[in-house]
Amino acid sequence: MSNPRVVLAYSGGLDTSVAIRWMNEHKGVDVVACAVDVGQGVDDLEEIRQRGLECGAVESVVVDARQEFAEDFIAPALRANAMYMGKYPLVSALSRPLIVKHLVRVARETGAAGVAHGCTGKGNDQVRFEVGTMCLAPDLDTMAPIREWGLSRDAAIDYANERGIPIPVKSKASPYSIDENAWGRTAECGILEDPWAAPPEDVYERSVSVKDAPDEPEEVIIAFRSGLPVSLDGVELPLHELITEIDRRAGAHGIGRIDLIEDRLVGIKSREIYECPGAITLITAHRDLEDLCLEQELADHKRTEEGRYAQLIYNGLWWGPLKRGLDAFMNEANRYVNGEVRVELFKGSATVVGRRSDDSALYDYDMATYDEGDQFDQTLAEGFVKLWGLPLKTWAARAQQHGDAL
Ligand code: ARG
Repeated sequence: MSNPRVVLAYSGGLDTSVAIRWMNEHKGVDVVACAVDVGQGVDDLEEIRQRGLECGAVESVVVDARQEFAEDFIAPALRANAMYMGKYPLVSALSRPLIVKHLVRVARETGAAGVAHGCTGKGNDQVRFEVGTMCLAPDLDTMAPIREWGLSRDAAIDYANERGIPIPVKSKASPYSIDENAWGRTAECGILEDPWAAPPEDVYERSVSVKDAPDEPEEVIIAFRSGLPVSLDGVELPLHELITEIDRRAGAHGIGRIDLIEDRLVGIKSREIYECPGAITLITAHRDLEDLCLEQELADHKRTEEGRYAQLIYNGLWWGPLKRGLDAFMNEANRYVNGEVRVELFKGSATVVGRRSDDSALYDYDMATYDEGDQFDQTLAEGFVKLWGLPLKTWAARAQQHGDAL
């Protein structure tokens, strides 16, 4: 009788490399390694696939999901301007549901009994992996070898050496715990755990320090169709390429560094450093275009739903019914978000300096102008103000009668 199979979310790093063997030894399962490229900057997917096998996986698969990640996971987040605590564009939280989707697919294809992830017990990612699996495949088991095992870095290296598991060359002792994808880069641990300590420059990889940013501003014109960016400076690009390109250009101006004391779902506060040049630039531009194209009540309501939407994603509820319902709302709200935004990239800031829309702007020059040609009928204002103020006028009169001074 062969062992049951489990599909492990494999990064190619030290922890998940040793987890393959550990699960085999301690849990009696055969591991299928599954690595998903979400734009974390892997040079060679095939190399990671091979490494999975060398570490003892019975099968090893890799998925280039960069386009899918942009179109099905980043795009809805951008339409919703999704930022957890108003600051964090949900980098890791967005990739987990996609990875779960592929783990489940591979589990079905290989007849596996469960899926596994390399998260610890202190973070949000374990929740996202496991709740995601509950939604997409309630019948599958989930395993968390790192959480169960609680192995230190040195012990993991010893474990690997004793068993001849090849330790990934890239695992030079980074002082930080990093997660990365097309929407940004996250860093925690080490000196960052002191919330008073300024983040050292070596935390950052995708952006220059504002001190070193060019002295000349750079302008970029981003065109949107139904709330999604479709071109940069007139050059049409598929979404995943456009995101990478704007990320590079904005990072060169020091844009998108975020230092956040974050409220984790597991109840603790943690200090996290994010680098999201492209995400911050695109959300800034998208929001601005919404101001031009959305009707007032819709815009106001959308702003309140955006926070809720970001929280759902952060808390691992991506595949749930409320997220699905809010997506319908966000898509409808974005229907006429069409046009162009001029963004100036300069010394750490992405600043909108102009916006226009040929067919979807609700800004009407003839209504807005104070110059000749004004079409706004000011005679209507007199009656409007009287009725608008009527409830307060009535209320204030009563207050006066009762000697209740305002
Ligand atoms: N705190 C962020 C989040 O919960 C980032 C997590 C990064 N994950 C990691 N394994 N380093 O989304």
